[in-house]
Amino acid sequence: MKALAIGDVCGSSGCRYLLKMLPVLKNKFGAEFVIVNGENSDEANGISPLSADMIFAAGADVITGGNHTLRNKNFYEALDSSPFLLRPDNIKADFGKGYCLVDKGKFSVAVINLCGITYMERSSAENFMTSADSLVKRAEEDGAKFIFVDFHAEATSEKKALALYLDGRVSAVFGTHTHVLTADAQILKNGTGFITDIGMTGSDNSVIGVKSDIIIKRLKNNDMSKFEFSSGENIICGCLFETDNSGRCRNIMSFKYKEGSDEKI
Ligand code: FE2
Repeated sequence: MKALAIGDVCGSSGCRYLLKMLPVLKNKFGAEFVIVNGENSDEANGISPLSADMIFAAGADVITGGNHTLRNKNFYEALDSSPFLLRPDNIKADFGKGYCLVDKGKFSVAVINLCGITYMERSSAENFMTSADSLVKRAEEDGAKFIFVDFHAEATSEKKALALYLDGRVSAVFGTHTHVLTADAQILKNGTGFITDIGMTGSDNSVIGVKSDIIIKRLKNNDMSKFEFSSGENIICGCLFETDNSGRCRNIMSFKYKEGSDEKI
């Protein structure tokens, strides 16, 4: 089974580029399942019903979230009503969930969404390893052979540690949140695919998606102007996981494409 994971979609520029590129990449790679991190997809704040609709329209089976997902109160109803919209399960909240099972007919896929602790504004989050234990157990009880974990975290150490902890129990662990594609896609000893971060989808002429002048003024002058996403010169980053029938990862390939070119960079 081939599954595609797409890095954090940033604002309307990222959504529009995803709409253009995801069908192309699904076809190019023969992907049968797609997970997209959408926590920054709304132009104003977090994710919204409109930006989620765009991501599903592009071809996502599941949209995962992160530390910004619960910022938009207008999204709480969607988080509860759609089984395929996730937020990190270990964040304590009355809305949403971080687990879903997707029945694709020939196979079922379980998707787990967790977040890290270090530098994540979520120091009250529950322990991600014990949360992972209970959700993997649930996926096994649901009969899912294919289990994917979006671990939304800042610290590279937390990401590698969770992947090693889950090695052999899940198909893949991929990191999101830093918006920078890492060059460490690998298959761990017991068959779990792992990459520290799958990067972002949105404007490359930016500081991880945001207009660079806003970030520079903030860092230099402590100017706290509201963040605005940049647009144009888009990139799309992600990772392709190919599993065998037992759900173990057999091939892994990260990728990054830039608007205006068909060549992987
Ligand atoms: Fe994030």
